[in-house]
Amino acid sequence: MNLENRVIPRLLCTLSICAFTCFSSLAMGQEPAEGDAMFAIVIHGGAGGNPAEWTEEYREARRAGIGKALDRGVKMLQSGALALDVVEEVVRIMEDDPVFNAARGAVLNEQGEHELDASIMDGKTLACGAVASVRSFKHPISLARKVMTETRHVLLMGDGAEKFGKTQGLETADPSYFRTERRVEQWRRWKSKQSTSMHEQNKPESYFGTVGCVVCDTQRNLAAATSTGGLMGKRWGRVGDSPIVGAGNYADNGTCAVSGTGIGEEFIRRNIAADVAARMRYGHTPLSDSAEQSVGTLPENAGGVIAVDAKGNMVIECNTVGMSHGFADSSGTRAVRLTREK
Ligand code: GLY
Repeated sequence: MNLENRVIPRLLCTLSICAFTCFSSLAMGQEPAEGDAMFAIVIHGGAGGNPAEWTEEYREARRAGIGKALDRGVKMLQSGALALDVVEEVVRIMEDDPVFNAARGAVLNEQGEHELDASIMDGKTLACGAVASVRSFKHPISLARKVMTETRHVLLMGDGAEKFGKTQGLETADPSYFRTERRVEQWRRWKSKQSTSMHEQNKPESYFGTVGCVVCDTQRNLAAATSTGGLMGKRWGRVGDSPIVGAGNYADNGTCAVSGTGIGEEFIRRNIAADVAARMRYGHTPLSDSAEQSVGTLPENAGGVIAVDAKGNMVIECNTVGMSHGFADSSGTRAVRLTREK
């Protein structure tokens, strides 16, 4: 189906895959052999932007980045790794890749500096950790995990998060490590066209690239991790949805694991990630319908979510033209796409 025909009316697209229970009916991948432990993983490299307008080189770089992170996650799951370890490792790989808007390659704020947000959540225990506006850690997602495991808090920000992180032996880097030519160029363009219109500032090209991963491991545990540089030209001190548990990231074994990408303010207003879970919990709504309904409450072009439940159902839902993502499961399914279509 022509993507335009589908996205123009509502700019809403859904991919739903019943991984463990009805995979053969979709004729994708193979049925897991009896006795095989089952798993599912979905990752995203951000919503927004129009892949048709990118160079083939850039499209390929994004596909390669998603593929590399996805394959590492699959390998870990095949070895029986826990969901929480997998989501952290996959997001670390994407934080290292300058093609994404997370850690190295993060977008720049209005002052031309980077401020990084991340969160991680364990669906088995509801333990979670997050950091906001950090600047010197190569892997903000690992700092978020340290907040979860080494403090009695959920969210640390700015200088406090930096100070805490330095006591944890995590790898740090100079500002130049995070800054890429592409982002500096984008920032210059943003600066030269800087508009006072909020609509202009929230155009899709200003926010694509957040990364996220949701996993159902072989023990049916769920976890979610999300990391971002936020929005291009964001105000100094602005915090988006990615480190806000329930808004841009959520995991609960009883419902689902969700990672969001898009205009963080819209996700915070609607508590989108937790809203997907709430529709499942209270409305007994299946994962795909829950994700579609939650994303359906967002303004057009605001972004999307990836989600997985404890049966291994996987969902990609967005109301933007582009949303780089990949998904795989124990039946042999594997796909990497820049939009829902390809
Ligand atoms: N969704 C990323 C942000 O708004 O910061």
